[in-house]
Amino acid sequence: MPEKDIYILGIESSCDDTSAAILKNNTILSNLIARQDVHELYGGVVPELASRAHQQNIVPVIDAAIKKAGISKEQIDAVAFTRGPGLMGSLIVGTSFAKAFSMAMDIPLIEVNHMVGHVLAHFIEDGENKMPKFPFLCLTVSGGHTQIVLVRDHLDMEVIGTTIDDAAGETFDKAAKLLGFPYPGGPLIDKHASNGDHLKFKFSKPDIKELDFSFSGLKTSILYFLQKQCISNPAFIEQNRDDLCASIQATIIEILLKKLKKAAKDLNINQIAIAGGVSANSGLRNTLKEEALLLNWEVYIPKFEYCTDNAAMIAITGKFLFEKAVFSDQSVAASPRYSI
Ligand code: KG4
Ligand code: ZN
Repeated sequence: MPEKDIYILGIESSCDDTSAAILKNNTILSNLIARQDVHELYGGVVPELASRAHQQNIVPVIDAAIKKAGISKEQIDAVAFTRGPGLMGSLIVGTSFAKAFSMAMDIPLIEVNHMVGHVLAHFIEDGENKMPKFPFLCLTVSGGHTQIVLVRDHLDMEVIGTTIDDAAGETFDKAAKLLGFPYPGGPLIDKHASNGDHLKFKFSKPDIKELDFSFSGLKTSILYFLQKQCISNPAFIEQNRDDLCASIQATIIEILLKKLKKAAKDLNINQIAIAGGVSANSGLRNTLKEEALLLNWEVYIPKFEYCTDNAAMIAITGKFLFEKAVFSDQSVAASPRYSI
């Protein structure tokens, strides 16, 4: 008898995007995201506004994801949701919906760690992607986190390096703000960098022990440099925008790659993956491909839609937990500082 298909509803609401996905076995039938443009005006995510927008968006997004998948809600075998880390008010919305849905439909409830979700996005099958072999290293770079994760198995991973202050995405966004871009500025730095000279400006790079990262010194060095230049030439940023973007981006990539290379060498691992919103950065993607040739790495770069926050990664993680019957009960609560 053929095995029964498994359908998982994934829900992601950890920051400012409300996302719902339907997974059938290991493939994605739908993965919808309601973005919140309201934060652009404020230069960063405003937690209270994010929470309110999630409340408005969650039911229509989930409804649309189920419809797009072409299934009925009765076919769903389990609901997986982001328990954390993230913003409390945002997480509560997804968590509450998932608990209610699980109870109403009498199906298992599966809590997912958002950072594990970013890593396991590599295991979504789309017919053409190759998957990392264990053990592999995953550089997980997002707006709130910068981690090197040693992945021994789907559900066995360890953070071996992390940032001691700002995250890489946060650094992109803060630098972008100084350059006059709206939030989130990471993708705009990426866009302008492609027309700029990455060797034009030099910024400070940290000297941090072992596999940890630091970005606060770089942020300060960009701020002081721009302040100084703008005193003698108020149009400095405008006149040098592309070169500034290219130089800032190259510095962030250099900081990330230095530690990734060290980790690969120390652990003698050549399976290298990237994940998280910053893994959408074209400079990082290209640099990684170049390093792969030089260092004999096999690199794994997610599709763009699975880099930034999405519910497909929550659904696939839910699937691995479902197979091991790792379920939560109704007492589960959102966990803003949930670690891997
Ligand atoms: O993983 P993600 O969607 O959300 C968090 O979990 O934080 O990551 C969002 C971060 C933001 O800081 C955003 O600016 C950055 O990813 N980002 C990029 C690019 N696309 C998104 N940074 C640089 N270049 C990009 N192309
Ligand atoms: Zn994320």
